[in-house]
Amino acid sequence: MPEETFEFENLPFDPARHGAAVERIAGEALGEGYFTDLAAIAARDGVMFLVATGPEGVVGFAYAWMVPRGRLAVELPRLAEAGFPDDVRALDGEGRVAIVQTIAVSSAMRGRGIASRLFGAVEGRLAGLGAGVFLVPAWCDGTRTNLEGVLVKGGYRHLADIGAYWKEGCDAGAFRCPARGEVCRCGVRFFLKRSPILLFGSQ
Ligand SMILES: CC(C)(COP(=O)(O)OP(=O)(O)OC[C@H]1O[C@@H](n2cnc3c(N)ncnc32)[C@H](O)[C@@H]1OP(=O)(O)O)[C@@H](O)C(=O)NCCC(=O)NCCS
Repeated sequence: MPEETFEFENLPFDPARHGAAVERIAGEALGEGYFTDLAAIAARDGVMFLVATGPEGVVGFAYAWMVPRGRLAVELPRLAEAGFPDDVRALDGEGRVAIVQTIAVSSAMRGRGIASRLFGAVEGRLAGLGAGVFLVPAWCDGTRTNLEGVLVKGGYRHLADIGAYWKEGCDAGAFRCPARGEVCRCGVRFFLKRSPILLFGSQ
């Protein structure tokens, strides 16, 4: 299927149109129970929720948000321990840090650039809300970081690796990780990208 047939659109929370497909894709890619209340999440202030749609309906989604001013260390305490770059701390003081938390594409549709295009779309919209930097906690399942190729091609750089990032919830059965064996092996690899709008000094 040629890439041109895919369109991206915002997800105004509409369970009838997108909710079931997003839950199915999240469950398949990231584990059953990944989203406990999609309606509430999508309705939060500053949340950016996009779906990638093609002729077969929803094939992927992106979930991101603007961190409220000065709240970065509260939202990402383990990354705070590792230390934020100075400019990220400064942007946090202005409420201009965005976290791109989740990107997932249905397994049948991977390798066609859908995730890369979702990133472009979500970054553009977050930049429109004033984001000066994007942080991505990329899931590492113990052997590979699925998003790494997409992120590196998209201009992100590696910031920090943190082990056992979701272990507490995983051990407690808060969700069912598709990569879990007998024990939790997943960690997170944080990536960072400065917004081109900021780099070009137009804000
Ligand atoms: C990671 C993921 C979002 C990539 O989506 P995608 O639409 O296939 O990505 P693109 O087509 O834009 O780019 C393909 C890249 O994804 C990587 N990739 C990961 N899993 C893949 C798969 N099953 N098939 C094809 N490519 C895959 C490839 O390494 C490729 O990078 P490369 O060009 O350097 O080889 C998708 O594989 C997915 O949903 N995986 C499971 C959920 C996940 O890990 N999400 C990230 C959580 S932070």
